[in-house]
Amino acid sequence: SWFHLQVLAQVDSTNRYLMQESARGVAHGTCAVAQVQTAGRGRRGRSWLSQLGGSLTFSLLWRFQCGAAGLSGLSLVIGLALLRALHELGLTEVQLKWPNDLVVMYQGQWHKLGGILIELQGDMESPSAAVIGIGLNLDIEQAMREQIEQPVLGLNQLAGHSLNANAVLGRCLAALAVHLNQFSEHGFTYFQQAWMTHHAFHQQAVNLLMANGQVVAGQVTGVAEEGSLLVETASGQQRFNAGEISVRSA
Ligand code: BTN
Repeated sequence: SWFHLQVLAQVDSTNRYLMQESARGVAHGTCAVAQVQTAGRGRRGRSWLSQLGGSLTFSLLWRFQCGAAGLSGLSLVIGLALLRALHELGLTEVQLKWPNDLVVMYQGQWHKLGGILIELQGDMESPSAAVIGIGLNLDIEQAMREQIEQPVLGLNQLAGHSLNANAVLGRCLAALAVHLNQFSEHGFTYFQQAWMTHHAFHQQAVNLLMANGQVVAGQVTGVAEEGSLLVETASGQQRFNAGEISVRSA
């Protein structure tokens, strides 16, 4: 299976665009790539900032049968597919940060290279489609870095030269096609071990920031078969879903 590619010179958000198009019945496997996004969306209501050529921004429409329960695993699998594509391009230091950020240790600090935003179409119990939005930083100028509260890095800065954005997109789409098909067939358990081996915080001490502002210290012991994070805390082993916590290295 392959993707139906739509290249948009400018759009507010490829996720918003495909949510609208999916309601109108656009085909499974449609991929919308934007040269410029004027209102890119991030997780937790944040925005995804990018300048022309500064990031690779695209979304995929994926119709599936797994039901909402399988979706936490889906977002982790997307991260793994992108990581593998970047490793193939020679960027072998790229790691994952649960639930689905791409990160790299650079100058002694974790830097974010990219993120994933999955939005669901239809009712939340049994959604009919997922819009899988992907933003990968290519080149982040200093002025832009100052607007973003966490350390961020572009793939070009990591590589030490300018990558061909179309080649990066091509590798990502090829890996995504393989991983999405495997996910549909086998679910997240098929990827669970591999995911953990690439987790930046595997077996590491972390602080978990709860939605209510509380901070809990613990050690990451893995990810569960449905993609939740397993953490050993003072009150024993706990599991967390994406959206409940954000993770910081301790
Ligand atoms: C995050 O890390 O918070 C997720 C960022 C997701 C950004 C991408 S860019 C393409 C797609 N369209 C959007 O509006 N958002 C996603």
